[in-house]
Amino acid sequence: MNRGPVVAIAKGRIQEELLPLWSQAGFPWPLTDGSRQLWFEPGRDRPGAIIVRGPDVPVLVAQGVADLGVVGRDLLIEYPEWDILEVGELPVARCRVVLAGRTPQPPDGPFRVASKYRRITRNFLRQKQWLAEIVPLSGSLELAPLVGLAPYIVDIVETGRTLREHHLVEIETILFSSAEVIANPAHWRAKEAVVEVADRLLKVGKEELRA
Ligand code: PRP
Repeated sequence: MNRGPVVAIAKGRIQEELLPLWSQAGFPWPLTDGSRQLWFEPGRDRPGAIIVRGPDVPVLVAQGVADLGVVGRDLLIEYPEWDILEVGELPVARCRVVLAGRTPQPPDGPFRVASKYRRITRNFLRQKQWLAEIVPLSGSLELAPLVGLAPYIVDIVETGRTLREHHLVEIETILFSSAEVIANPAHWRAKEAVVEVADRLLKVGKEELRA
């Protein structure tokens, strides 16, 4: 590898959990050093990184600004419009997208549900043949039932702590998610180093799973 490829990485949970895998993959420099740096230049024998919000990862990869991306499967399902290759799964940021409310009983009659996953929620409602109004929020979903915005939410659950702290319970799991490595299709075909970085990350991911 000479000048390494560029990897777009979802800010937050994925970025934090990817760090050990990144080092194990032999990439010789830390992804974060506690700073708020968002752009790490690629160098000789090391990939570069761009730290962006999850939904922006497939945008950067599709545009070819990044060769590879690491993003949650949940977001790939929510934003399927980008021309990217799904290369493989990493044992990072494992979570579920769930419907939650104050009691474990499913809604009875038309209801309001807050979510940042509008497409996933819409498809879920359609499949259930439930009538509901989706209230679009971009975060802090657990607040919606507390402040009377919507009695139900569709959100990510990892440990379940956030739901518990807001006196909410799961009603149904909609989908399972973990981090996925994605690639720009043209760069994947044309640049050997891009395949090599992805392979190294996926390999340490598999080893981690076996450990
Ligand atoms: C997600 C989600 C919950 C929390 C669930 O938020 O929206 O708030 O994680 O995790 P838990 O089950 O381990 O408590 P995140 O911190 O990813 O940020 P967000 O609010 O921007 O989605």
